[in-house]
Amino acid sequence: MTGNGASFNLRPGGTLQGRTGVPGDKSISHRAVMLGALAEGTTRVRGFLDGMDCLATRNAFRAMGVSITDTGPGALDIQGVGLHGLQAAPGPLDLGNSGTSMRLLAGLLAGQAFDSDLTGDSSLQRRPMKRVVEPLSTMGAHIRTTVGGTAPLHIRGGAHLRGVRYAMPVASAQIKSCLLLAGLYAEGETTVVEPGPSRDHTERMLSAMGYEVRIRAREVTLSGGGTLRGGDLEVPGDLSSAAFVMVGASIASGSDVMIENVGVNPTRTGVIDILRLMGADITLHNARHAGGEPVADVRVRSAALKGIDIPAALVPLAIDEFPAILVAAACAEGETWLHDAAELRVKESDRIAVMADGLTRLGIDAVPAPDGMRVQGGRLSGGTVDSHGDHRIAMAFAMAALAAEGDVNIRDCDNVNTSFPDFAARMAGLGLNISEERTGHE
Ligand code: S3P
Repeated sequence: MTGNGASFNLRPGGTLQGRTGVPGDKSISHRAVMLGALAEGTTRVRGFLDGMDCLATRNAFRAMGVSITDTGPGALDIQGVGLHGLQAAPGPLDLGNSGTSMRLLAGLLAGQAFDSDLTGDSSLQRRPMKRVVEPLSTMGAHIRTTVGGTAPLHIRGGAHLRGVRYAMPVASAQIKSCLLLAGLYAEGETTVVEPGPSRDHTERMLSAMGYEVRIRAREVTLSGGGTLRGGDLEVPGDLSSAAFVMVGASIASGSDVMIENVGVNPTRTGVIDILRLMGADITLHNARHAGGEPVADVRVRSAALKGIDIPAALVPLAIDEFPAILVAAACAEGETWLHDAAELRVKESDRIAVMADGLTRLGIDAVPAPDGMRVQGGRLSGGTVDSHGDHRIAMAFAMAALAAEGDVNIRDCDNVNTSFPDFAARMAGLGLNISEERTGHE
């Protein structure tokens, strides 16, 4: 596994300086394709993330008969087919590494007249799907999983879906969005109750496309049978990708970076709050709105970081950023504690185990717990780290090299293409001493 594909080789030290953009938001790009396909009329998407995950979603809709034209980098024109215009795909839909594609599509396809099969790579085939299959079943969906509750999924078409009220056991935008998409096809009202806030891009985009969504406290409700209106959709830069730059610029002394056009939806900004609590110097500029989402330019200057007890309330708001945050913790003075983050164990990799292992290999005292980790800030040596095919682990450890004393080599980095296709080139442009190497025969 680790001998093939891309590796990152990093020389230690350096400074990050200059202006950069980041690729389009992954969550919003997925939803743009899904909702654009189900809308009436054309949806012109700009700023679309041309990464493997979102391309898997695009390809799935093409396979279901939707005309989607690539009109340039990050630009798609989608000819919406309406809520009932999708056609059966000729074979299984391969969603690669993308949990968002699989979980959201499970809801959307449960309401179609035709059968569907969903599959993905070995990481996606290990991820829990019962969390969407069970509530969908209570709505009347017929979905078969493996005995372990994982993909491949077989979704039987022609089900009569009924709206339900579902209280989610975990704050998960994927579960919420899955049920809301099924709710478009259900009789009556579908209400999802969240234990805490999770990203609300689905609700925002549905509303922007003219579909009525009612939000009250922690409840989101919609009724089936409406219509979506296509239109222009601008996808902001991905805060989750910007997070690597934020951490890199914070830990590399003398850094000063302006990251332009970043989505700063308040359900996503936990990473900024956590890094600021650690002492980071992050400021937002030129605040504006694009495509129903708040956007800003984010300036980051290096700062002395200190360890903190990460507030549990911020965990769901920074759920994808912990690989980067834990690297910041390794470079901070004192101890950082992460709790209430068991969800990290079921991401693209077991991010608690994989981060603890990588940090330990770089000489840091990092002790995993069932739901988090304790990290004692210290000196990062050089070393070799295995990303376990997880894009965010690879990018987080690339940033760690800025504060390391020796070379850092990161293996199994191909999946960086799922969310940040030009990561190495863009970061090299800011001053990261990174080179990419291909090994094996792929
Ligand atoms: C996502 C939701 C999050 C996140 C994932 C993208 C989304 O997952 O980790 O990368 O686009 O809805 P959960 O909803 O399972 O926490």
